[in-house]
Amino acid sequence: MLDIHSHILPGVDDGSKSLDESVKILEMMKEQGITDVIATPHFYAFRENLDEYLKKIQDSYNLLKSYVAGMNLPDIFLGTEVLYYYNIGESESVYNFTFGNTMYLLLELTNSSINSDLFKDIRNLRDKKGIIPVIAHIERYHKSSNFRKLLKFIAKENIQAQVNASSLFDDDYTKITLKLIKKGYITYIATDSHSATGRVPMMNRALKFISNHLGNHYSGALIRNSEKMLDEITEASN
Ligand SMILES: [Fe+2]
Repeated sequence: MLDIHSHILPGVDDGSKSLDESVKILEMMKEQGITDVIATPHFYAFRENLDEYLKKIQDSYNLLKSYVAGMNLPDIFLGTEVLYYYNIGESESVYNFTFGNTMYLLLELTNSSINSDLFKDIRNLRDKKGIIPVIAHIERYHKSSNFRKLLKFIAKENIQAQVNASSLFDDDYTKITLKLIKKGYITYIATDSHSATGRVPMMNRALKFISNHLGNHYSGALIRNSEKMLDEITEASN
């Protein structure tokens, strides 16, 4: 299974602090049936220089890839978790953020960013740039006053969304995460792993929880969607 959201690159964001911690997270992922993972370090346009960011993540990616060579751990692809910024739908920079050689882009929101400008930008990303936006941990925004509008928008426009596996075990998010999966708003479940001791990968536990509460049909669909993306990424990298 492919994990589409993780902070496993050492020393680049609030995720893994060292190569050894990255290895520990990758080992935990492997135990949970994750065969491939996309490293999605945070990018904050308001405070980071794009060129410096790209160099930083590429260097960290190369370092980790060579460190884990021969260890039989999940294969790593490079992506980004981009915090939404105004006019991102017109930005040429977006091609730097996609997963491997595909057009998938993981987009993080804030509660206050959910408005008509965001919807216009997401449409522009898709229609003008050919990007496939994936909204990161959409359950996190359920307290936004415009959350229902966001759900309506993604259903109408067929926009992909991801939930965090860990949200199923967080009292603030369990109910809404299950509901979103059940109602068909969710394409992917991912770990959003940040460390080997705090925000650890919980994929296995989450898939079992979904099977127990909603049925195998729902967990199976999430696994299939991840496999479909993995096929596309693998094909694009050849
Ligand atoms: Fe994240």
